[in-house]
Amino acid sequence: MYGEGDNQVKALDNVTFSIKQGEFVLIVGSSGSGKSTLLNMIGLLDSPTNGQIFIDGTNTTTLIDDEISSFRNKKLGFIFQFSNLLTDLSVLENILLPRQIAGTDGAAEKDAIELLKAVGLEDQMDKRANKISGGQAQRVAIARGLINKPSIVLADEPTGNLDSVTSETIVQLMKSMAKKLNQTFIIVTHDRQHFGEVDRVITIKDGKAFEGDQPSEMEIIA
Ligand SMILES: Nc1ncnc2c1ncn2[C@@H]1O[C@H](COP(=O)(O)OP(=O)(O)OP(=O)(O)O)[C@@H](O)[C@H]1O
Ligand SMILES: [Mg+2]
Repeated sequence: MYGEGDNQVKALDNVTFSIKQGEFVLIVGSSGSGKSTLLNMIGLLDSPTNGQIFIDGTNTTTLIDDEISSFRNKKLGFIFQFSNLLTDLSVLENILLPRQIAGTDGAAEKDAIELLKAVGLEDQMDKRANKISGGQAQRVAIARGLINKPSIVLADEPTGNLDSVTSETIVQLMKSMAKKLNQTFIIVTHDRQHFGEVDRVITIKDGKAFEGDQPSEMEIIA
């Protein structure tokens, strides 16, 4: 629920579902249907007025301030529409940042370089983050989202700011990383067709969740 009094908006209503570890899930639906609200709640960036969210057995709706930041940093990886890299830092430093916040460990740099190789940017690691292209920046954001080996990677319109060819590359990269790492991904997208076959599609319509994306097959999840 957003707002107060007469201005109240019920962005999501009675949404219930569970996602298995390693699942690659798309969240689709028209503009204003509640997709980002849902993702922000899973990502602890927003909290539901009612209801509960469990991640890895933790009821995240009972966490308080410091616990929320720590949980978010350790268990969740984020990829946004705009890569949100820190432009004063190098590509490598951007990827290492979430690990440093979580508490440094010796293998951090090795892990970051491995991810850089996986996203095809090992030769760019010392460049400043404002000296690379939009598609490259989004590949860095994917590596950054994976550096803490999160339980879930959450992405809101990760291809929303890219041309169609670059989108295709980013989509394939996320799919291959998901498979290689058995990494759970939950991705909000308007770009359904680029993703091709995925484990699961959830459609949000008027704040309610439906399994699948074919209107004839859509079944409400509750
Ligand atoms: N901070 C807010 N305050 C008040 N209302 C909000 C707020 N954020 C979202 N809403 C409302 O909640 C509903 C769902 O919004 P949400 O951003 O989740 O949609 P969306 O599916 O992500 O849309 P889009 O595809 O355009 O990004 C909309 O009616 C929106 O106007
Ligand atoms: Mg949105």
